[in-house]
Amino acid sequence: MSPPSVALITGASAGLGEQFAHLFARDGHDLVLVARNEARLEALAERLRVHKVKAHVMAEDLSRPGAAARLFERIKSKGLAVEFLVNNAGFGSTGPFLDLPVEKEVEMVELNCTALVELCHRFGHEMRARKSGRILNIASTAGFQPGPFMATYFASKAFVLSFSEALAHELQGSGVTVTCHCPGATATEFARRAGNDESRLFQRGGVAKADAVAAHAYEAMLQGEVVAVHGFLNWVATQSVRLSPRAVVRSIAAALNTRPE
Ligand SMILES: NC(=O)c1ccc[n+]([C@@H]2O[C@H](COP(=O)([O-])OP(=O)(O)OC[C@H]3O[C@@H](n4cnc5c(N)ncnc54)[C@H](OP(=O)(O)O)[C@@H]3O)[C@@H](O)[C@H]2O)c1
Repeated sequence: MSPPSVALITGASAGLGEQFAHLFARDGHDLVLVARNEARLEALAERLRVHKVKAHVMAEDLSRPGAAARLFERIKSKGLAVEFLVNNAGFGSTGPFLDLPVEKEVEMVELNCTALVELCHRFGHEMRARKSGRILNIASTAGFQPGPFMATYFASKAFVLSFSEALAHELQGSGVTVTCHCPGATATEFARRAGNDESRLFQRGGVAKADAVAAHAYEAMLQGEVVAVHGFLNWVATQSVRLSPRAVVRSIAAALNTRPE
């Protein structure tokens, strides 16, 4: 008999991750919920009971060395098979790079990039052996250009986008799909945590709702799309940077990442 399959969602305690949990539970999938805040994960698991699915809470700080490996072992020891891997946990920071604490910038790379790579590798191996699995990596429209005043964050999402596309190509025909979803500005805890909530990007209106963004990403994953950008205007923006001079692109991103005068 094959082991019970689950959807593993990182960053499930808030924002998009919480919405993903509801979508998978609605469709009858058992879950592994990961984030640092165990109490919030437990409360979510309780709310998901209405769907009659099992939600395993596994609190981990994925920016710490060894956390992804520990999570993998915890899931193996429960005899669970990860059929869906949603690498959603992530955060940003705002300000001139040299004025931001270096520890936080490194932590961001560890979470947004290193943990994502390690989880893709560990669970991807098992998916390929089973010839079945779906990986959903959450990047951002930030991944399409450099972002002065959010330099590390934009670069981390460019990494996620490039890495995910390459992995999707390598896994063609294997039964495993990789989808990179790119939200634009979305109403979650992200902007406040990143100190970016007063930026032009978040103040100009058109901030998407988390449930709509998560539903779009979920559908793109089910369809096996490789890259999906949420929202027509966001899509236009990601395409226009391909033709615009890079100096112009950098200046526009810098303006959006700072407060209006
Ligand atoms: N909101 C936007 O405008 C936007 C736009 C584009 C892309 N995104 C991306 O969407 C993803 C989800 O963000 P969100 O908007 O939903 O933000 P959010 O509301 O701040 O949620 C972030 C989640 O990540 C978890 N997390 C943070 N640090 C962690 C760590 N070290 N280890 C494990 N979990 C950690 C948080 O939980 P704990 O604090 O409990 O650990 C939380 O559950 C991120 O990758 C973000 O970059 C967001």
